[in-house]
Amino acid sequence: MTDQPQNGPHPLRSRLGGRNLYLVGMMGSGKSSSGRPLAQQLGYGFVDADPVIEQLAGRPIPQIFSEDGEDGFRAIEAQVLQAIGQRHSLVVATGGGVVTKPENWGVLHQGIVIWLNPGRERILTRLQNDSTQRPLLQTENPAEALDALLETRTPLYSEADLQLSVGDQSPEQVATMVLDALPSILTPASEGPGAPQTTAG
Ligand code: S3P
Repeated sequence: MTDQPQNGPHPLRSRLGGRNLYLVGMMGSGKSSSGRPLAQQLGYGFVDADPVIEQLAGRPIPQIFSEDGEDGFRAIEAQVLQAIGQRHSLVVATGGGVVTKPENWGVLHQGIVIWLNPGRERILTRLQNDSTQRPLLQTENPAEALDALLETRTPLYSEADLQLSVGDQSPEQVATMVLDALPSILTPASEGPGAPQTTAG
């Protein structure tokens, strides 16, 4: 379930102290596509949560939704996130709704949470050109459904440690943007007991 790192460790890797990087954001925000090159550049493993959910349930996501409802899906998603949270040095592409379950934040906040935000219009265009079935958007008016989700979830995505507005960059460029932005939130205090200490005065 994990792609192994192929390159040597990135200089940021030791500063991360093994903390997982959780990519959050709406469907179509590029979490899976940019997560892979990010993990590769960092020398981290990569996990895409959705396929792990499908593997555990033994069914594709649309079938989980139709048979168990959204609550059933969220319960499996939470279980998968818990298992992922036991591991370290991973870039994790989460499903867009992972932020809606408060218990998931216990796991997310053990790592670093990064919100990829392409904005409403870009999300809509991407989803229209994407063959992945998203049960929450299988309605007569997907744009309206997306707006409702955005309204509920935007304050939750805003809880991320790092927020990145993404445009039409390639997945590799988004990965580089994440790596460039990470040092801004890696203060010595956040780098754990092994980190260099600053002293006042
Ligand atoms: C969902 C997003 C999907 C998948 C499921 C529910 C959501 O993942 O987990 O269809 O609630 O936003 P992606 O964000 O990878 O499309």
